[in-house]
Amino acid sequence: TKRVAILISGGGSNMVSLVQDMTGDHPARPVLVCANNPDAGGLAKARQLHIPTFAVDHKSYGKDRQGFEAALQAALQKARPDIICLAGFMRILSAEFVAAWEGRMLNIHPSLLPKYKGLNTHARALEAGDAVHGCTVHEVTADLDDGPILGQARLPVRPDDTAASLAARLLPLEHQLYPQVLRRFAAGDRRQVTLGA
Ligand code: GAR
Repeated sequence: TKRVAILISGGGSNMVSLVQDMTGDHPARPVLVCANNPDAGGLAKARQLHIPTFAVDHKSYGKDRQGFEAALQAALQKARPDIICLAGFMRILSAEFVAAWEGRMLNIHPSLLPKYKGLNTHARALEAGDAVHGCTVHEVTADLDDGPILGQARLPVRPDDTAASLAARLLPLEHQLYPQVLRRFAAGDRRQVTLGA
């Protein structure tokens, strides 16, 4: 059975969807949920799900990114994950950190990559007049939101959509996509998953 650590910054709804899928014949189990923000709402959800948690407040490290990453790395090394899932983790990780987990770290991003790397993806899709928006699960490499794509879910944009309405309709698709990709990935299958229109 593969060991999975999940990194979050906020509400953790994607984390919950991953954890809830990791039962029965699933090839992986959750071993740790980490947050870079001790107030992340997802930490309480992880505790309710009986997953060990670890919080390291990036703000307490100020500009010392190395110190922050060393603390995170130490917690991860103790938990010995085979796979790390970034799930709404909003800190950029250094190339050194990413290299330590190369080929073993996944991320979910709220756009149809390679479009709209970075922030404000929903507003940017609307601004561009896209007829279809979506989300992507990909392998994490040193370049932001850039690694090999493992799955995408597509969402038709409606004429009256706002960034908020797009985000709200996309989230349930994220909750379908990420668990499906993790199931395959944990079983050694890197074929892409495609969902939606
Ligand atoms: C999700 O929409 C995820 O795709 C996005 O943050 C949200 C986290 O929600 N991730 C990024 O923007 C990564 N740059 P959650 O905490 O409820 O899973």
